Amino acid sequence: FNVPVPVNEPVLNYGPNSPERAALKAALEKARAQQIDIPMYIGGEEVRTGNLKELRPPHDHQHLLGTFHYGDKSHVVAAIDAALAAKADWENLPWEQRAAIFLKAAELVAGPYRAIINAATMLGQSKNAYQAEIDAACEFIDFLRFNVQYMTEIYQQQPPVSGKGIWNRLEQRPLEGFVFALTPFNFTAIAGNLPASAAMMGNVVVWKPADTQVYAANVIMQIFKEAGLPDGVVNLIYADGPEVGDVVFSHPDFAGIHFTGSTKVFQHIWGEIGANIHKYKTYPRIVGETGGKDFVLAHPSADADVVATALLRGAYEYQGQKCSAASRAYVPASLWPAVKEHMVREMATFKMGPTEDFENFINAVISEVSFDKLAKYIDAAKTDAGVEVVAGGNYDKSKGWFVEPTLLKVDDPKYVTMCEELFGPVLTLYVYEDDQFEQIMDVIDTTSIYALTGSIISQDRYAIAQATQRLRNAAGNFYINDKPTGAVVGQQPFGGARGSGTNDKAGSMINLLRWVSPRTIKETF
Ligand code: SER
Repeated sequence: FNVPVPVNEPVLNYGPNSPERAALKAALEKARAQQIDIPMYIGGEEVRTGNLKELRPPHDHQHLLGTFHYGDKSHVVAAIDAALAAKADWENLPWEQRAAIFLKAAELVAGPYRAIINAATMLGQSKNAYQAEIDAACEFIDFLRFNVQYMTEIYQQQPPVSGKGIWNRLEQRPLEGFVFALTPFNFTAIAGNLPASAAMMGNVVVWKPADTQVYAANVIMQIFKEAGLPDGVVNLIYADGPEVGDVVFSHPDFAGIHFTGSTKVFQHIWGEIGANIHKYKTYPRIVGETGGKDFVLAHPSADADVVATALLRGAYEYQGQKCSAASRAYVPASLWPAVKEHMVREMATFKMGPTEDFENFINAVISEVSFDKLAKYIDAAKTDAGVEVVAGGNYDKSKGWFVEPTLLKVDDPKYVTMCEELFGPVLTLYVYEDDQFEQIMDVIDTTSIYALTGSIISQDRYAIAQATQRLRNAAGNFYINDKPTGAVVGQQPFGGARGSGTNDKAGSMINLLRWVSPRTIKETF
């Protein structure tokens, strides 16, 4: 079977008179005008508990978008039961039938749902139109199409060698049990991909998104249903994380977790799984993408404008809330005046405000919790010795959770914001002496627990080679002369090691192979 050759979905430009902007505006207006009531989906049934939580745009917390129904432990049990009940039919469905469902889902996102899912991502997660388009439309479509391609390669791979009187086969079985998908707020594409990639390989899934991502998760579920995903294959629940964890991680049929979120939560989950290990039928698959403290290293040979652009885009797009966002930078003293001039000039032109007007580059951060955390670090930076607020430093929560893009310059390369993940529009920068390039790489490699993304900006091939080698373990996605964000499915498989995750590269065959358990069959004649 050959599936359609996957190509990356082109990014639409949403220019002032474009049809895509008109469609998106209409979807935004419709979404804003209605008061949606979002149920859970268990075994294909809509489940309404009456325990309602509110949904509000992070950039406009006075506006109620709607409510969603919160469950408890009994709903987690029901979701697991529904998943297990759907398992036999789903795993026996020929894989090309499963592939067709996800290919259809990709077409639904590309066509009739494009404006709807982008609008949901703009309102629910405070992404501007461009950031929504590259995530909820393009990256989600790419995950679906490319993973179907990788899936066909897995099922049709070269069988093992056989010999005279012996026939060897390798069968790719789904995992024995259910998979738990725990998904983050910051990418709608990831929220869709984590349940979809496990389900594609014949698994049944219990899916819990972040409470701050429910609005788009509901659209993803509509798409899966309309694409023909059978009832019970993916069960979408909303409930308190620790309560869900108690039920999921003590269940004998727990077979794996597909996670994107914080390092702290993932480490806690790993401990829970370890504590319950004797209860399971099988060793569960633990696949997680967690935090980052992603760096940009400029070499003295770099073009100052290239450095400034990589920093501005890498640090501030989507308010710095990409796990790949540039949050620490190392700039040589000879380049700093030009880099600073470019950054300060451009940051003064950034427009900040709600997502819906198509003008604002900077929108709100996701929640009050995030806002308070960022405000705390910024306040400390204002008074700490050896820290200069080069640009930004203000915040305002009167209408939404707005934090101004902030550039800190520090005298100590181990200052707290050079090491800890803040998950917001705060970039910390250290200026090193030009002859300290080698020493600064040691600092980069050892000051954070993370190793997700990083960039070297240089026109000197020796320096590029040196950084590529010396920083080998400091990033799972390493960029040369580019910002460290924006990995494209099929082009740059994404993920990091150390405190950043299990590095099972989202949107790759490596990832899909975690959702099967091969059986070797030897037949003797
Ligand atoms: N894939 C995204 C990026 O590279 C992060 O999840 O920015």
